[in-house]
Amino acid sequence: KAELLRPATSEVLETEVDDGKKKVVIFFGTQTGTAEGFAKTLAEEAKARYDKASFIVVDLDDYAGDDDEYEEKMKKESLALFFVATYGDGEPTDNAARFYKWFTEGKERGNWLENLAFAVFGLGNRQYEHFNKVAKVVDDILDEQGGKRLIPVGLGDDDQCIEDDFTAWKELLWPELDRLLRDEDDIASGNSYTVAVPEYRVVFIDTTDTPPEEKSWNLANGSAVYDISYPCRANVVVRRELHGPASDRSCIHLEFCIAGTGLKYETGDHVGVYAENCLETVEEAEKLLGYTSDTFFSIHSDKEDGTPLSAGALAPPFPSPCTLRTALTRYADLLSSPKKAALSALAAHASDPNEADRLRFLASPAGKDEYSQWVVASQRSLLEVMAEFPSAKPPLGVFFAAVAPRLQHRFYSISSSPSMFPTRIHVTCALVHGPTPTGRIHKGVCSTWMKSAVPMEEREDCSWAPIFVRQSNFKLPSDSSVPIIMIGPGTGLAPFRGFLQERFALKESGAVLGPAMLFFGCRNRKLDFIYEEELKSFVEAGVLSELILAFSREGPTKHYVQHKMAEKAAEIWEILSKGGFIYVCGDAKGMAKDVHRSLHTIVQEQGSLDSSKTESLVKNLQMQGRYLRDVW
Ligand code: 2AM
Repeated sequence: KAELLRPATSEVLETEVDDGKKKVVIFFGTQTGTAEGFAKTLAEEAKARYDKASFIVVDLDDYAGDDDEYEEKMKKESLALFFVATYGDGEPTDNAARFYKWFTEGKERGNWLENLAFAVFGLGNRQYEHFNKVAKVVDDILDEQGGKRLIPVGLGDDDQCIEDDFTAWKELLWPELDRLLRDEDDIASGNSYTVAVPEYRVVFIDTTDTPPEEKSWNLANGSAVYDISYPCRANVVVRRELHGPASDRSCIHLEFCIAGTGLKYETGDHVGVYAENCLETVEEAEKLLGYTSDTFFSIHSDKEDGTPLSAGALAPPFPSPCTLRTALTRYADLLSSPKKAALSALAAHASDPNEADRLRFLASPAGKDEYSQWVVASQRSLLEVMAEFPSAKPPLGVFFAAVAPRLQHRFYSISSSPSMFPTRIHVTCALVHGPTPTGRIHKGVCSTWMKSAVPMEEREDCSWAPIFVRQSNFKLPSDSSVPIIMIGPGTGLAPFRGFLQERFALKESGAVLGPAMLFFGCRNRKLDFIYEEELKSFVEAGVLSELILAFSREGPTKHYVQHKMAEKAAEIWEILSKGGFIYVCGDAKGMAKDVHRSLHTIVQEQGSLDSSKTESLVKNLQMQGRYLRDVW
């Protein structure tokens, strides 16, 4: 059986507790790695400041095996910091879900946290309805149950500069930690501390005599359990364009083959895909770093004698030895805007003092506005920034530890059903491609990879990606006769294509189907009406009772799905009154908000309710799991 390598840095950064040191536990609930990154950064900085304390960074899921263990362990903590992100519909991240459920549902425990001092930093986005809900709730309950809040909950806003929010929150936190963790002598003597730029140990390997053998994700087939850290290697078997030839945009239908892998999924689940950077991007990075693509190296988080490089040593970021080409292609995020910490690391390795100064300024509190403007608002990528500072050539150990974050997986709502395609996972992906304020054409990593993927249909030696399945609660009613309403414009159609396939299979097997309405919207029937033929055949087959279309750019007025909902208000109300389900999938910031408002209006008018009754009826639908949203 092939060796399974754990490729992610999401490994718990557990440092053994040193005897006699005060223990600080830093929890994180992360989805894309930002919360985890902040937790680790804080641990690193704190270690440099307080040598009489030990800092343990813990994945909330790994902390305890069950509810009792959460209670038992948390009771014993005296100082805890929480980094928790809020996702989609005000939900916790996957790795915080179990903790959150337990913590929010068991409020009757009294003052059991009275020994605990705590601080919470939330990661959210103000554009969303439930801004930082998870952090606010956790902060409230910690306080309610006797914990001592050190500083107000930090509300990180990803719509602006979340790093600045983090920095501001830390500035409030340090004096509190000073009080709790530093000796009087330390404080009196004004002991200073410096935070070193994190760095991996890199060993270059000469391959002139022996051909290099790369260690890359060597993924097993068979009975393995796959997850974010142990993804499954899946071949691309089909790839086709869904838009019409006259469209200036692109939407890709892709099929991964999971036959023989043991990977399973259910209709409505999500697939996580680890994509690769395109060659053009990788070559640019090689040039900027000043290494050739065939540079062969191994990367380590420990010293030669096996002891950790630093107290909070990071896990090695990827399997090695490998070539620089492989490392940059698979594991480095080169196109996101660099974080301030990355700019500091570049500054430390800039040979031109003017460049170093400018980089340091951008990373400093004084350079806040400049950073917001020049980096964030202009969407400058890491590579663009590096190109502006040609003397900043970080060594590879620094580059992978502190400059380029790890390339993250992307989630897609699966657009097939295992009832129809048990050995395939279908993805429906809109290409991200467009100019940024600096004139660069931004190409989304994963969608660009999907667009240029070579399917098995075309070549035996086809494209493949490490993938894994994330379960969702976006499911059809267990009783197929219950009526449903689906609202999914654009690629929001994806899970509903799976729903319809499942209903088709149910019908074939003799099940009775309740009515199903689908509201789909796109710009123009000829350009981006994806899966048109399939949808029509679902109508013909009696799997879809009504297909309601909204074309936004065909005439002088915009027609959106919510306008069509208003026209069908009476039918929608009837379905909901009969215990039906309503599903929304797609863009959270615009569409899902507007659809939510439209649903309110429908309920209020059709039910002749006042606004508080309307509010509670819609809330109830949500609580009962009859109003479900898969939004991003
Ligand atoms: P537009 O691009 O013409 O504005 C799929 O993306 C469809 O969703 C498009 O027709 C798009 O229209 C439409 N859309 C954009 N914003 C929307 C919103 N707030 N609510 C509903 N549909 C929206």
